[in-house]
Parts: sequence; structure tokens; C-alpha cells
Amino acid sequence: EGEALGAGHGKIILLGEHSVVYGRRAIAAPIPLAIQARIEDTREGIELIIPRWGVEQRLDFDAKRPPSFTRSMARLLESLGLTGRGMRIEIFPNVPRAMGLGGSAALAVAVIRAMNVHFGLGLSDARVNELAFECEKFAHGTPSGLDNTLATYGDVTLFRAGEQPMREVIELPEPLPIVIGMSGVESLTAKTVTRVREAWKKNPAIYERIFDEIDGLVGLGLDALKTSDYDTLGEMMNVCQGLLNAMQVSSWELEELIQIARNNGALGAKLTGGGGGGSIIALAPENSAGVARAIRAAGYHAIEVTVGGA
Ligand code: PMV
Repeated sequence: EGEALGAGHGKIILLGEHSVVYGRRAIAAPIPLAIQARIEDTREGIELIIPRWGVEQRLDFDAKRPPSFTRSMARLLESLGLTGRGMRIEIFPNVPRAMGLGGSAALAVAVIRAMNVHFGLGLSDARVNELAFECEKFAHGTPSGLDNTLATYGDVTLFRAGEQPMREVIELPEPLPIVIGMSGVESLTAKTVTRVREAWKKNPAIYERIFDEIDGLVGLGLDALKTSDYDTLGEMMNVCQGLLNAMQVSSWELEELIQIARNNGALGAKLTGGGGGGSIIALAPENSAGVARAIRAAGYHAIEVTVGGA
């Protein structure tokens, strides 16, 4: 009775993580992994069930220091006029947790959409996106809005944060093959975003220059993407990785994954998302399977995806 499913997309950032927080452009793409949520009515309280993660709990809004998820739920229910309604929220995550693939935003969008259907709220995508952005603020203080935008719309997108964020859908002439390599180390986006902020405060001129450089790579990468010029796109990814490393958001495992990818014919490889752990992406149109195999042989998890295109 009264079941409703909502979904939010996972994503990769092709170019522009971190600098996007400082108003520069980024290119991101949805991956064919999503998080789904289902709402059922209950008498009272909010039950959260995530079978795959062994989570089964009742949210405690009156706790002394409620976790960020509970606080964002309280805020969300208030925004939707649902405070006090009893419900069971069941979540089916196909996006791995804390792997830099936008899991938290995808979860927020899935829950909001499930509520939208279940309670007949008539929310537009724009409103879903806004509400997910509010949720993301609880996860990490200064989100750019890129994650929630991708989770909501699921388009290959050129994005720039701002009062009126720029969200330009990029049409690819053909699907882009990408290998995702997962370090298995949790990426805590809030931590790396804070790290970059501290470093930027100490050396603003140097960091502003790095952000500008990355914005330049985004511009060149955009042209390359639109013409399937993979040599150039790969080079932009490699140079971008150098700059991310300069900002010290890379890690031992990420660098190893990147070297494995390049040694096996990747034209470009870089971390994706917040870094510190999480995942890398590699562009190896001639040898995606070989790159994925080599990553697995080294003991990491890898998936092959294609993004965009007809
Ligand atoms: O780690 P993820 O998937 O949440 O991506 C974070 C992207 C950043 O640019 C580092 C932060 C942001 O808010 O855009």
C-alpha cells in the first residue's frame, strides 16, 4: 500500500573538482549507478532502513548532537511541511559509499523524490535540486551544488556555481568510455574541502592561480569532449591530476591506481570527487577492459561505464 520509489544518480567529475567550490567551471557526468528510496506510512517517527549497509534505526531528532543525516532530514521534513508524519524510509544504494561518486547527493535526491511521489507534493526537478542542495550543506559546509545537480538531472553537464548556477547540458557525439577505479579508502569530502580552504587562506594567490588553470583545462576539455578528441581530453585529465596533487587532495592509493591506468594505455587518469581516498577515473578507449583488469589484479575494485552519447 502506498509505495513510492525515487532515484538519484551517482556521478563522476571529469574535470574541475575543488576549483568548482571557488566559482570555476567543472564538467561532470552521471554514471549508470543510482540510489533508490521507498517511503511507507507508519504511525509515528522516522525509521531508516538501508538493508545493504545493515542500517535499521529510528531517527532521534531530540538527541544532543544528532548526526548530519538526522539534521538534514529534520530540515527537509520542515521544508516539505511533513514534520511529525510517521514514515519508513527504505534505501537501496547502488552507489558505493564515500567513494567520491556523489553518494550523499544521490541519497538525498532519492529520498526527496520518494517523498514527492508518496505524498503527492508536485515538486519540480528544480525544487528537488534546491532541497538536495540544502541537504548537502549538512554533509559538507560549502558544497558547490554540482553533486546535487548531477544527482537530480543526470546529464553530462558543464557547471558553474553561483546565485544562478550555470547548468549547461553537453551533447556528446558518442558515448564516452570510462573506467572507475576505487581505492577502498573512504573519501571524506568535508575534510579535503576544508584542507583546500585552509591552504587557500594561507596562499591565496597560488591557489587562485591553480583554480584558474583548472578552469582553463575545463574549457579545453569541453571542446575535446564535444569532438571526441580523446588524446586532448586525456591530457587535460592528466594535467588536472597534477594540479589536484599540488593541492594535496590525492593519496598513495589514488596515485597507484592512476599509474596502473596509465601503464595500461589510459590516455588520461585522475582522481574524481573530493579525493583523499575514493575513486579515480581513467580514459582508455582502446583498452578499458585491460585497465579494469590491471586495477583488479592489484587488489582494487574497478567498473567500466560509458557516459553520455546517443
Ligand atoms: O566527493 P564528492 O563526490 O562529494 O565530490 C565533491 C566535489 C567537490 O568539488 C570536492 C566539492 C563540491 O562541493 O563541489
